[in-house]
Amino acid sequence: MMDQYKNFLHALKDAPSPSLFLDQEAFYKNLNWVILNSGNKNIRIATKSIRSVEILKKIHASNPVFQGFMTYTLEESLWLRSLGLKDLLIGYPTTDLASLNKLAEDPREIVLMVDRIEHLDLLEEIASAKKTVFEVCVDLDLSMDLPGVRFGVYRSNLHEEKHLRNFLFHLKKCPHIQLVGAMGYEAQIAGVMDENSTLMQVLKQLSLTQIKNRRLKMIQIIQAAGHTLKLINGGGTGSLKHTNKEEVVNEITIGSAFFAPVLFDHYQDFKLSPALFFSSPIVRQPAKNIFTILGGGYIASGQTDEIKQPQAWLPIGLALIKNEGAGEVQTPLKYNGPLKLGIGDLIILRHAKAGEICERFNQIHIIEGNRITETVSTYRGEGKCFL
Ligand SMILES: Cc1ncc(COP(=O)(O)O)c(C=O)c1O
Repeated sequence: MMDQYKNFLHALKDAPSPSLFLDQEAFYKNLNWVILNSGNKNIRIATKSIRSVEILKKIHASNPVFQGFMTYTLEESLWLRSLGLKDLLIGYPTTDLASLNKLAEDPREIVLMVDRIEHLDLLEEIASAKKTVFEVCVDLDLSMDLPGVRFGVYRSNLHEEKHLRNFLFHLKKCPHIQLVGAMGYEAQIAGVMDENSTLMQVLKQLSLTQIKNRRLKMIQIIQAAGHTLKLINGGGTGSLKHTNKEEVVNEITIGSAFFAPVLFDHYQDFKLSPALFFSSPIVRQPAKNIFTILGGGYIASGQTDEIKQPQAWLPIGLALIKNEGAGEVQTPLKYNGPLKLGIGDLIILRHAKAGEICERFNQIHIIEGNRITETVSTYRGEGKCFL
């Protein structure tokens, strides 16, 4: 770790700080882990967890297992398509009329996500007015209801077979919509940390059997209704090792694995290499062992608890101060380590999630050994902000 800190400091000595940077060796280690664990599935790259066109292109070009992208808004998808990216599945439904009307002019390469009759009605109205056909993917709910709690997330409305049958019945009345895919995201496996939690491990195990049966049954219903599905998508980083065993699935969406943020340190059955970091300089020293860095308050989305704060990574021995947390313009850190830190020294931190930190920086420096070898733009650096 000391060597890693020295390398980062050397590489960043002339870069403005705070800055966002990627450790190339760790990034490719993670990328190879994804390839090794892909089984016989294609991997669709989750753009929300990367948010840099150059890095999306690097992943995609690295191996033929990477096929297509899962995007997060239609406006983003139209932009990516204009830059030459192909095979874009939007992971979430859209009601953005301006972008839908644009898509209707040329619907190629983009598949829309749906799970409600209202989604179908909206798309049918726009596509029929423009005499075109939209391709859609249906989002199947794979959460598990337990007494008093939902083990999973609230997302798709298609939970039971009867809901799916009603949806398919309505789809028959929409000649301008073609169903080409089905997605089931097992968030309770992919997004739930289970290291050191027997309860979570047992719940996950229980849920895995249910997911497998439910997904298969739902896909059979769709196929029996006469639809040919070119994509059957499942999973995420946290479920790769399970989703790759499901025969019916032909592609798995992966994003976070490449950057390996803090939340992904806490899974029982895999370990990744932290790859994306940000640096910030010490600008104050209000007490003997307290060092204050500039900025730092980049809190991750979702339920807010301490793990959603950035983690002070290097040098070892730094911790956030409970009463203050990570601040908007400055963050005090307690240091309990052997180095003699001073004003101007850089501290290295990690974000809890993968892509959100890219909304705070224009560029990502790519570091190989102790040198910056390349600097690429984030979406934000290209003047783009979708969510
Ligand atoms: C539909 C869908 N698939 C897959 C993923 C997994 O992405 P990641 O690999 O970044 O965890 C997500 C993340 O939220 C998602 O919403």
